[in-house]
Amino acid sequence: MLFGRGSLDMLVVVAGGSGFLGSRVAAELAAQGHQVRALSRGLTARPGPPDARIHVVRADVRDPRTLVEPLTGAEVVVSTVQGFIGPGGVTPASVDRDGNRALVDVAREQGADVVLVSMTGAATDSPMELARMKAAAEQHLRSSGVPWTVVRGAAFAQAWIDLLEGTAGRNGRLTVFGRADNPIPWVDVREVAALVVRATVDPTLRGEVLELCGPESWSLRRLAGEIMIARGILGHPRRVPRPVLHTIVTTVGRVRPELGRQAAAALAMDVLPPADDTRTRERFPDLPATPVSTVLAELMAASSTAPV
Ligand SMILES: NC(=O)c1ccc[n+]([C@@H]2O[C@H](COP(=O)([O-])OP(=O)(O)OC[C@H]3O[C@@H](n4cnc5c(N)ncnc54)[C@H](OP(=O)(O)O)[C@@H]3O)[C@@H](O)[C@H]2O)c1
Repeated sequence: MLFGRGSLDMLVVVAGGSGFLGSRVAAELAAQGHQVRALSRGLTARPGPPDARIHVVRADVRDPRTLVEPLTGAEVVVSTVQGFIGPGGVTPASVDRDGNRALVDVAREQGADVVLVSMTGAATDSPMELARMKAAAEQHLRSSGVPWTVVRGAAFAQAWIDLLEGTAGRNGRLTVFGRADNPIPWVDVREVAALVVRATVDPTLRGEVLELCGPESWSLRRLAGEIMIARGILGHPRRVPRPVLHTIVTTVGRVRPELGRQAAAALAMDVLPPADDTRTRERFPDLPATPVSTVLAELMAASSTAPV
């Protein structure tokens, strides 16, 4: 190998490179001069022109045979996949647990390092299925013999603002689920991307779990309320009460698993324990820490100047 890990011109494979976080990670790595392969199933049209610096390769992490060629020659494999929601019948078990395990196994055959994006609260006994599946992937990675780094992000501010805006009814009021009063340390996705890029290019970060939160914790209800204020919408967010969510889980959720998963996740979000990123912040004092209020103001300013 001409260039050692951590040097310029590494070949990095970003699984989930078409996603909200992964596309930012892929773009930054390419901007730094690395060769980037972004894995995608190609199921959804992505906005904007394709990035000529990034080589998009078809692969489905649920089918390990599709991973071998795309991972050939990779020095680092970054996983930003998720199967909680999205097209193609994905599930946390098939993507976040088994798909990540497959990525780790193929990366091991290729002699590549792995950077796994997980979530704050990942634990085998979490009330949230996604957090349990992430924990299973982390365990597999740690015991695989592959040099690894785990980045555990809190909920991404930009993704959730977008998601909440999608719940607006005809009168503009947004919808929240459950009590929605648990404080959540929303993190700016750009900061998560910056940390994932550092974890990718810096081999001294192997063997580390890096948690990242934002500096301002708002409940889901508060976030929805602040979006409504920013949009000039009167009233409070609508709320789907917990008993209704329980009913969804045990009835319609059985035939529409994605709906059941979302209802179950909303119930779990009411009781998730707080996350703590003190160690990561001490370690990377130059990493920006943008409050969710600033992210919201930026998004509102951008949408008010966007062409219609
Ligand atoms: N969003 C949050 O608030 C949040 C919070 C904490 C942690 N995270 C974690 O951060 C990472 C990125 O999240 P995100 O919100 O950016 O996700 P996203 O925008 O939904 O992107 C998900 C990506 O996963 C890929 N994917 C899904 N199923 C796949 C499969 N079977 N085979 C190959 N690729 C597959 C998708 O690619 P194609 O559809 O193109 O195939 C897409 O690029 C995930 O690991 C997520 O769990 C997210």
